Amino acid sequence: MKIPIDQDRLSSEIEALASFSDAEPPAVARIVFTPQDLKARAWLRARCEEAGLKIRYDAIGNTFARWTGADPAAPVIGTGSHIDAIPNAGKYDGVVGVLGGLEAIRALQRAAFQPKNSIELLVFTAEEPTRFGIGCLGSRMLSGNLTAEAARKLSDREGAPVEQVRAQAGLGDELESVNLPNAYYKAFVELHIEQGPLLERERIPLGVVTKIAAPASLRVSIEGAGGHAGGVLMPDRHDALCAAAELILDLEQAARSSGAIDTVATVGICEVFPGAVNSIPSQVRLSVDIRDTDLNRRDEVMQTLDAASRTISARRQVAISSQLLNADAPGDCSPIVIEALSESCRKHGLQFRTMVSRAYHDSLFISRIAPTAMLFIPCRKGYSHRPDEYASPEDIARGTLVLAETLAALSQ
Ligand code: GLV
Ligand code: MN
Ligand code: MN
Repeated sequence: MKIPIDQDRLSSEIEALASFSDAEPPAVARIVFTPQDLKARAWLRARCEEAGLKIRYDAIGNTFARWTGADPAAPVIGTGSHIDAIPNAGKYDGVVGVLGGLEAIRALQRAAFQPKNSIELLVFTAEEPTRFGIGCLGSRMLSGNLTAEAARKLSDREGAPVEQVRAQAGLGDELESVNLPNAYYKAFVELHIEQGPLLERERIPLGVVTKIAAPASLRVSIEGAGGHAGGVLMPDRHDALCAAAELILDLEQAARSSGAIDTVATVGICEVFPGAVNSIPSQVRLSVDIRDTDLNRRDEVMQTLDAASRTISARRQVAISSQLLNADAPGDCSPIVIEALSESCRKHGLQFRTMVSRAYHDSLFISRIAPTAMLFIPCRKGYSHRPDEYASPEDIARGTLVLAETLAALSQ
């Protein structure tokens, strides 16, 4: 079977989706359930319906677009990713897996392929933690890793609860209904840009992912004492930002000295109160993101952060508290899906390597309820989560071809 990928159409659809954004191009920002995200969802729905797919939204807004197979009762072959984008993002993170998944289905239709198992494109809600503070909201709920009760307690930075935000987006039904039934999937495959430099550096066009690193995130609050920047003498100060600076550097050191290249730690948000040039910072809020492919090593960094907080708090007489938002185990990909992807690469004479994913993905959670693996394509210099993120049309088309071949192999 020859699978004709329409590379030009896919490229123009990636551009079209990037236009639904709250950032100045080339940057993209598409935060879940904002007006731009809702427009993007409507646009995508129309593309799926053009392809004859049947659409269903669940109560948290995960979107299922189904190509019904010859055996509609058989477990589903899933593919997909996310279309939400963090502030100052690029065009490709998540989008390649969604629009590539759609094009893979269309290409199989053009090839007159008849699936036995239904093939379903899944667009996950809020893979990015921007709005609700926790990543992979949709896939956590689908896989039973976040209960409806816990989800109801989430709210956005403006204090709007999930229930209110999803109601405004037109989503009814109870959150309890999001959890997928057991054995819903026969297999799940996610196509994604690598978000790292290895494929480009090694000039290998495809990466088959065998493991997804374990992410953890925390909010840290530091309470010191404010006051006049001129009047308060240095020995009398309890500057919350100076304490935060020490803590951030201790965290960096803990990750750097873990002994493994896979340990990473980031403070991506630092909010300073009251935020006046002539006022000593009295309060700081930090977001902390720690990851590793090895759970124990990741947890050791978390313990070091805890110990550093206690030391700095005692020495500087500031209060430091932290709230754990998530600490997830790593995900193992399925040997069956890894082999299906590898075999598809071989069939098309395409070189590939196996690799781990240091970024997290919805596949981390889907891998707990279904045989799952991911396919990576190169992105320029490994850039991601920045406006100059780029993957070439040829690389995207190659990834889409291997995805289509794999979906076909799994669905017969
Ligand atoms: C996902 O976007 C991640 O931060 O890994
Ligand atoms: Mn991302
Ligand atoms: Mn992503």
